[in-house]
Amino acid sequence: MAENIGSIEALLQEDRTFPPSEEFKKQANIKDPSVYEEARKDPEAFWERFAGELDWFKKWDTVLEWNPPFAKWFVGGQLNVSYNCIDRHLKSARKNKAAIIWEGEPGDWAVYTYRDLYREVCKFANGLKSLGVKKGDRVTIYLPMVPELPIAMLACARIGAVHSVIFGGFSADSIRDRIEDSQSKLMITADGGYRRGSVVPLKQNADESITGDTPVEQVVVVRRTGTADAQMVDGRDIWWHELVSDQPLNCDPEPMDSEDMLYMLYTSGTTGKPKGIVHTTGGYLTGTYATTKWIFDLKEDDVYWCTADIGWVTGHSYIVYGPLANGATTVMYEGSPDYPGRDRFWSIVEKYACTILYTAPTAIRTFMRWGEDLPESHDMSSLRLLGSVGEPINPEAWVWYWKNIGGGRCPVVDTWWQTETGSILIAPLPGITTLKPGSATQAFPGIDAEILDEAGNSVGPGGGGYLVIKKPWPSMLRNIYGDPERFQEQYWSKYENTYFTGDGAKLDEDSYFWLLGRVDDVINVAAHRVSTMEVESALVDNPKVAEAACIGRSDEIKGQAIVAFVTVKENINTSDALITELKQHVATKIGPICRPDDIHFAAELPKTRSGKIMRRLLRDVAEGRALGDTTTLADPAVVESLKEQYGDED
Ligand code: PRX
Repeated sequence: MAENIGSIEALLQEDRTFPPSEEFKKQANIKDPSVYEEARKDPEAFWERFAGELDWFKKWDTVLEWNPPFAKWFVGGQLNVSYNCIDRHLKSARKNKAAIIWEGEPGDWAVYTYRDLYREVCKFANGLKSLGVKKGDRVTIYLPMVPELPIAMLACARIGAVHSVIFGGFSADSIRDRIEDSQSKLMITADGGYRRGSVVPLKQNADESITGDTPVEQVVVVRRTGTADAQMVDGRDIWWHELVSDQPLNCDPEPMDSEDMLYMLYTSGTTGKPKGIVHTTGGYLTGTYATTKWIFDLKEDDVYWCTADIGWVTGHSYIVYGPLANGATTVMYEGSPDYPGRDRFWSIVEKYACTILYTAPTAIRTFMRWGEDLPESHDMSSLRLLGSVGEPINPEAWVWYWKNIGGGRCPVVDTWWQTETGSILIAPLPGITTLKPGSATQAFPGIDAEILDEAGNSVGPGGGGYLVIKKPWPSMLRNIYGDPERFQEQYWSKYENTYFTGDGAKLDEDSYFWLLGRVDDVINVAAHRVSTMEVESALVDNPKVAEAACIGRSDEIKGQAIVAFVTVKENINTSDALITELKQHVATKIGPICRPDDIHFAAELPKTRSGKIMRRLLRDVAEGRALGDTTTLADPAVVESLKEQYGDED
């Protein structure tokens, strides 16, 4: 990880600070810094208070049972997530408040009050039951950003089924692997979704993913684009609107044990096989509820917009569960930020008078490139708080966001977390924390984050190393679906009883955290996690490829870009056409987000004498740096020739 830290030194030169304004502080939910100390003294009592703000059918007996690496929170308690996100708000004036404001890319829209959401979720939950879905069954959801997506998730939660949402950008093969792993008998999809003015053929991908031997017996199809009417398969496929048309408007929520599974969500790891991250009920909801409330300083009249796709964890926790558990109004947008114009986001902020905006640095850097005129042409005075997530934010982008989107009056909360952590673990509390552009600042109260060196010593202020979490927290992953060994190995084997995040970080003299990126073979492309091993497997799946090695190189907009070094089989000619073919091959195998940005052909890949590919050297080559230590390299000439070749191509 040394090279990661090196490249970030410049970032640590950043010395601008932004204390909360008096005006913001005055109205902030949390302004007393003693919350940190209180939570440190008794984290279990701290979390228990938030759990107590949720509605439980039966109160828990024990806050935490910790048998490392397995944690159980609020043991003995019973609750239902859909009840907490909907029903309990119907007892107050929130009943008629907008729960979801949805806008489709073509410009269509829908608003669901909490009462509307209740009806839609109950109808679909009854529909699922009528198809034979029971508590504990896994349901795969492969939908675009349409209201049926959160409705389907909440309906699963209502009847105790476990949802596995797959991002609409994944290909048929990726869906197939995830279905196989989760053994879902039911899939929910749509005929298509809109993206940049075109239709993404979801039904076609879904159909391809369940040919031959598959556990999927039934497919529910949302009619969104009207493009798949001819593809409905008799006896297997059923339209969503037909399924719900005669269903009763009420469906009793299933009482779930606090530790019953709520959902699984696949994420890339250091092998070619994605991991099904397991989240459970009581702790997950407590974590997302608490962090949404405090970090976004949520108020009753906020209009909160998180621009993520629900196919990723950010959408699960901060479009659906966190905001709805708080009774907030959450905005959902289906499409691309540049359709029909590059001011689409700002027109949405203006139209719905959004007060909170939560987006990713890659988007912010794109907006920077598109220029200030676009946000300036819209009234965004409703905004009062901004958030950032998914990758390190460079100080320039932070300050641009603060000034040009937030008008210099909105705190920017840079939030660090992972699919595995379930909710935000490192972020400012906007009424308390002095912000530093580029730093996610401090651990949320109740979270024991530390930076350790290789030997497991805490590095202290000024030091750099591996970010770890030392105590269990309510929304932590409970397991990798069906693979407890990998769970143990991946997260709990580096240090004893300590969660290993896979991220490098530095601590500054004020004990602020500066995240430096992954220290493993996972890369962050446009705030999406990509496994280099997965891309490599997709490349060698092409019959012309002998060997492949992928690395992430820094990219001004996307944070990191995917670079593949490929050796071809004998008698195969390397050409631009082959580069195009291989890029497309990866996009088809996994999904367009994994399409390599650059492909370089090499006669050989640099390997250690034991045959391990030296990715560090490839990163040096790709980023044009002086080569580091090459003493363990089997054949140093390999790298030199690569470097020459790479230079020529540039
Ligand atoms: O490397 C960190 C980066 O994203 C990884 C988690 O990716 P994923 O599970 O897809 O979840 C993304 C949304 C939570 C982390 O290991 N990351 C996430 N947020 C930040 C970040 N890196 C720096 N700063 C952040 N705020």
